[in-house]
Amino acid sequence: MMANEMTIRRLKTQRRFWFQVHLYLDLALVTGFSRWLWKRRKEREQWRNGSSKTWARAGTLAGTLLLAVHLIAQVPEFNFYPEFRRWWFALPADQRQSFESVLERYKQRLSTEGTPTEEIGRRLQLMRTRRTELEADFWDRFFTSSTPEFNTKPNAFLMSVVEGRPAGRALDVGMGAGRNTIFLAQRGWDVTGFDPAGKAVALAQQRAKELGLTIHTQVALDREFDFGHGRWDLILLSWMPPNEVARMVAGLRPGGIVVFEGPRTWFPQNGLLKQFDALRVIRYEDQVTRGDYFVQSDIPVVRLLAEKPGR
Ligand SMILES: C[S@@+](CC[C@H](N)C(=O)[O-])C[C@H]1O[C@@H](n2cnc3c(N)ncnc32)[C@H](O)[C@@H]1O
Repeated sequence: MMANEMTIRRLKTQRRFWFQVHLYLDLALVTGFSRWLWKRRKEREQWRNGSSKTWARAGTLAGTLLLAVHLIAQVPEFNFYPEFRRWWFALPADQRQSFESVLERYKQRLSTEGTPTEEIGRRLQLMRTRRTELEADFWDRFFTSSTPEFNTKPNAFLMSVVEGRPAGRALDVGMGAGRNTIFLAQRGWDVTGFDPAGKAVALAQQRAKELGLTIHTQVALDREFDFGHGRWDLILLSWMPPNEVARMVAGLRPGGIVVFEGPRTWFPQNGLLKQFDALRVIRYEDQVTRGDYFVQSDIPVVRLLAEKPGR
């Protein structure tokens, strides 16, 4: 009995001893493993933070560089075009009847100045076959110039129209560098803008990002753009000719508006009114005033605010 009791007590003591050894070992193991896991997580986090910061920095730098290269790069073979365009627009109206007659006059001018025949031929060929590209390049140069010749503030007529009007979905046709697109986005409108001048559009996107705004953009001509049906509450043509009136009107929602401002010289008498005949005219102005765009002089300007009936 005594021997048995002693054996049992010894066994119990041994078991307690091994139990404690086990416990300490388990504790040591669990603690060590957790510390190792924690350390690894920390290291991974540090690496991830560091590397994502590095990637973000590299991304921003690459983006800025790309945009800079994109903005600076111009097509050298088109260098003559801005000067041609200025000369062309300064011609009296009766000498600007058709583009072909303008080219003929330009050819004579270049010959008189002693420009080599080959160069004259090259320019005329470009203007006959790649006019859209020449125009886009012209506007890209215009908008990315360090000395802008235009009003960088939003169009004042648009500002007055939008005042007190609930925000909706807007389209800026021929948005340029997006002064009005950005203004509308700032006023809470869901804005889309498009223009064939890709560098100007990229500049608009860059500015919107810097301001924390979202704008939707496309590099496109009006004849390529899908205006949809009943989609827009506001369509803006700011110093952009209304070429696609029927498709624009179809794209307006009932109650949606068209806002136009531009030079009167683009239209025959009351031509702007006639073009938007399908809409109810709310405001129409025809006056000589300081151009909102080429700000340096007073010019005849027409403005239109018209609404699609049927709301
Ligand atoms: C005088 S700027 C006006 C830009 C802008 N609407 C503003 O008020 O700041 C004319 C713009 O119309 C664009 N444009 C010219 N023809 C176009 C066309 N067929 N389709 C779309 N945009 C055009 C040009 O690229 C240029 O950016």
